[in-house]
Amino acid sequence: MQSLAQIDIGPAYREEQEKQLLARIAARKQELGDQLLILCHHYQQDSVFSFAHVTGDSLKLARQAALATDRRYIVFCGVHFMAESADILTADEQIVILPDLTAGCSMADMASREQVAAAWQELAPLVDLEEIIPITYVNSSARLKAFVGERNGSVCTSSNAERALTWALSQGEKVFFFPDEHLGRNSAQAVGIPPEQVVLWSRGEPLGGNSAADLRQAKVILWDGYCTVHMQFSEAQVRAVRQADPGVQVIVHPECRQEVVQAADFYGSTEAIIKAVSESPAGSSWAVGTEINLVRRLAWQYPDQKIRSLSPVDCLCSTMYRIDPAHLLWTLDNLAEGRIVNQIRVDEETADQARTALDRMLNI
Ligand code: 13P
Ligand code: SF4
Repeated sequence: MQSLAQIDIGPAYREEQEKQLLARIAARKQELGDQLLILCHHYQQDSVFSFAHVTGDSLKLARQAALATDRRYIVFCGVHFMAESADILTADEQIVILPDLTAGCSMADMASREQVAAAWQELAPLVDLEEIIPITYVNSSARLKAFVGERNGSVCTSSNAERALTWALSQGEKVFFFPDEHLGRNSAQAVGIPPEQVVLWSRGEPLGGNSAADLRQAKVILWDGYCTVHMQFSEAQVRAVRQADPGVQVIVHPECRQEVVQAADFYGSTEAIIKAVSESPAGSSWAVGTEINLVRRLAWQYPDQKIRSLSPVDCLCSTMYRIDPAHLLWTLDNLAEGRIVNQIRVDEETADQARTALDRMLNI
């Protein structure tokens, strides 16, 4: 697999004034024209986000990458797993680039293929492995997606996790869901699986800290991964914001803990959060439980509504933030001068199996 070492882009980029960086990015974007597609996730900082050809949540961006058959270069302003999915879904001759290779996702790093394979083997004496359908959240490595693809499973995103879970339970008796405990638990609750049939697999403990009987009766086994950004939202914050502003509507991302999602008025993917706010009348009041760049952008785009973070402290995804104008310009300068830097390439065997799991999701 690829190493994630990012080379130093040098002082000519690091020390350049932001105004100059932005003007130079605009010029390079124009010069590269129809060869280039810049995809930006909603958590990108505004100075990068403003250069997007397409913005979206993980599902929308994966679909857009798959549709962009005419673009030679896909510059993915997001995190590593998103660029890997784009590489898997695009043709061999298309080049996917991540402007800073250190832009990873700590949740994705919580479930390696080796860890998951070991857990899978532990289950073998207890249950028929053919009856367990694995589902991995798109926030996972291509190697884990491949593991899932090989075992009749699917990828899901925060937009379709409930549908993926329902589909999986029509294919087998149990679901093993990685890596996000909270998206898994919130989705299981939404599709009506009783809490006693949902168990947590704690990494590092024999049988994930469960008894054999608990695992036999479980419908859903959740890996114990989480998002450090969304773990910062709490039920107490929901209570506090409602006390301060009784008319407020609370909307959160399903990576938040179950008690936060239950206390909120609405939950959904980043795209769903944007839709809910954008369709609200002037004077609406929102407390939003997701990454701060998106919350600030909503507040700025809809000044006739009151929009703030659910948390009193800024919840920043520090790895998304590593994609900055300096790295974007460095990437585009190199492309314009005929050099490819930071290409994200998934080996063919892994890509084939991972594509099976991604395609299942796109068809669910
Ligand atoms: P969305 O697919 O909802 O944009 O979520 C991606 C993500 O990483 C949230 O933390
Ligand atoms: Fe990963 Fe959380 Fe950042 Fe999303 S917000 S990319 S889940 S660390």
